[in-house]
Amino acid sequence: MKQYMIKGGNPLVGDVIIAGAKNAALGLLAAATMADEMVLIDNLPDVDDINAMVDTIEESGATVSRMDRHKVAINGATTFSQTVDNAVVRKMRASYYLLGAMLGKYGHAQVALPGGCNIGSRPIDQHLKGFEALGATVDVNWGMVSVHAEKLTGAHIFFDVVSVGATINVMMAAALAEGKTVLENVAKEPHVVDVANLLNKMGANIKGAGTDVIRVQGVKKLHGTEYSVIPDQIEAGTFMVAAAATKGDVTVKNVIPKHLECISAKLREIGCEILEFDDAVRVIGKGRLKSSKIKTLPYPGFPTDMQPQIAVLLALSKGTSIVTESIFENRFKYADELLRMGASIQVEGNVAVIKGVEKLTGADVSAPDLRAGAALVIAGLTAVDYTHVDDIKYIMRGYEDFAEKLRSLGGQIAEVETEEEIERFKLKTRIG
Ligand code: EPZ
Repeated sequence: MKQYMIKGGNPLVGDVIIAGAKNAALGLLAAATMADEMVLIDNLPDVDDINAMVDTIEESGATVSRMDRHKVAINGATTFSQTVDNAVVRKMRASYYLLGAMLGKYGHAQVALPGGCNIGSRPIDQHLKGFEALGATVDVNWGMVSVHAEKLTGAHIFFDVVSVGATINVMMAAALAEGKTVLENVAKEPHVVDVANLLNKMGANIKGAGTDVIRVQGVKKLHGTEYSVIPDQIEAGTFMVAAAATKGDVTVKNVIPKHLECISAKLREIGCEILEFDDAVRVIGKGRLKSSKIKTLPYPGFPTDMQPQIAVLLALSKGTSIVTESIFENRFKYADELLRMGASIQVEGNVAVIKGVEKLTGADVSAPDLRAGAALVIAGLTAVDYTHVDDIKYIMRGYEDFAEKLRSLGGQIAEVETEEEIERFKLKTRIG
């Protein structure tokens, strides 16, 4: 099983190119299947979740051409199955986007329920509430969600919970429903806007994505187009925090600074120097940073997907910080791993109290989920001596060339599988 070996102590310095947004691309790929013509999606991140989604779409019969590692052409005309069920689907959550896409286009679909996740129960009741409001019948049996509608009719839907997935999923189905749909209490994440923009380029009529109310005027058919995924705000934020934590100087390139405003504001508040350009943000870490209070919120609030990473930074800041996780009920599983590295972090319910320490020390740690895994890598890059991170399969799901990009910034990190590779890494890095 692939693992990371890290030798801490080097400040990260230089430029890093940010890939396309994983959580936008998953919705975009599902939306692309809704036309019976070719839809070309560019700037896809080459990560496991995206490749699994493309494979799943191909298995449904759509014609898929992988032009290069970041570009795929999808033609839904040849889709022959609206049942999506395989071992990969049961592990990967976002296959549920095919429910909304296929319900809109074919009037029915069956998708394996996503497994639970390490960060919380993650129900999909709001997705199903939206489909039912549009006139679909919904059954959940044998680990499968089945949706069926003779005809989808526009409706006024008020989500009980702000949900990225439910907003995107129901918006896709509504795009081909008859009449007008109003979606309220929706998610405003950049990836919701990205999917709405693609659907509109395909001929849909969607207004208000990125605001509290999305209005959809259903259309009969969608057509082919070309589209490029927005940059990944969370990958960018991860490298920004890594720069701050290692007291480095990193410019994240190919980003939309507006999407990073909350992260940049928080880093400035705790003492980093942040310089913003048209499509880049530069982060200069300035010695020991200040403590702070963080509460994760739906966009444009502080992203839950950045919570583990900022917690590592606060674990090294001066003073006591408070981190409140208001989106998921179990997103502090990395805390025990940080304790092994000498952090002082105490979790009570959905609040973590973090007393900053001067430095962390290397240890063997496990990545409990995608973002916590990235956070532990950041901790290792700051720690004295060696940190061994196992279970990096989670990290591979969402970060393209993660170790390569960190090495290009001066980080001492390698993917290893055997004892011999571990020893070789230690020998090479001990020489310095
Ligand atoms: C998306 O998950 C992202 N995943 C998550 O990123 C991200 O953390 C999350 O949005 C919040 O920004 C993808 O886009 C593939 P939600 P999603 O529906 O859509 C509750 C990562 O690291 N809820 O916005 O599943 C839910 O339990 C991943 O890239 C319901 O109660 O998140 C949670 O408490 C982790 N009923 C809250 O809403 C529902 O029907 C927000 O969840 C749906 C959600």
